[in-house]
Amino acid sequence: MFDFAIIKKKNICIMGLMGSGKSMIAKDLSKQFKIKFYDTDREIENKTNKSIDLIFEEKGESYFREIEEEVCLELLQNNNCIISLGGGSIINKKIRQSIELNSLSIYLKVDLNILAKRLKSSKKRPLLNKNENKIDILQNLYKRRQKFYEKADLSVDNNKDKYQVLEQIKYALELYEN
Ligand code: S3P
Repeated sequence: MFDFAIIKKKNICIMGLMGSGKSMIAKDLSKQFKIKFYDTDREIENKTNKSIDLIFEEKGESYFREIEEEVCLELLQNNNCIISLGGGSIINKKIRQSIELNSLSIYLKVDLNILAKRLKSSKKRPLLNKNENKIDILQNLYKRRQKFYEKADLSVDNNKDKYQVLEQIKYALELYEN
C-alpha cells in the first residue's frame, strides 16, 4: 500500500480536461497502490441520483458547479485516496485551495486534437453537445483552465500509452522517498 506520509499529503488528485484519461489512470494507480479511488462525477451522480448530462439539462451548469464544489470539498477531506476530478472543478477557487492544501496533484496533458478525436462520439459530456466544433470548445475551456492545470505538482503527457504514464507517475512518486 502507498505511504502518503512520504508525500506529506492526504490524497492524490488527477486533473485535466475531459477525455484526458483521468479516471482510467486513477483506477490503475488505485489498484497498484491498493488505495481507494473516487471519481467526482460518479459521486455527484450518486448524490443527486441523476446522470451528469441530466443535471445539466434540468438545472443548468451553475447548479452542477454548486454540487461539484460540495462533493469535491467533501472528498478532499478524505485520507489516503486517489481522486479523479471533473475537468472543470479547478475553476473553483475553494476547490483549488483545498487541493493545494491536502493533495498531491497530477495533471494529465493531452493534445487538443487527440482529445477531440477521443471525444468525437461521447454523449456524456454536456459541454461538448453543442453545435460548435469540438476542438473550438476544448480550446476555449483549455484557455481558461491552463494556468490552473499547470500549477499541478506533476504534469504528465497522456497522448499515447497509458503504461508510460503510469510508469512516469510511479517513478516521480518514488523520488519522494529519497
Ligand atoms: C466537465 C467535465 C466532466 C464533467 C462535466 C463538466 C468540464 O468531467 O464534470 O461534464 O467542465 O470539463 P470529466 O472531465 O471527467 O469528463
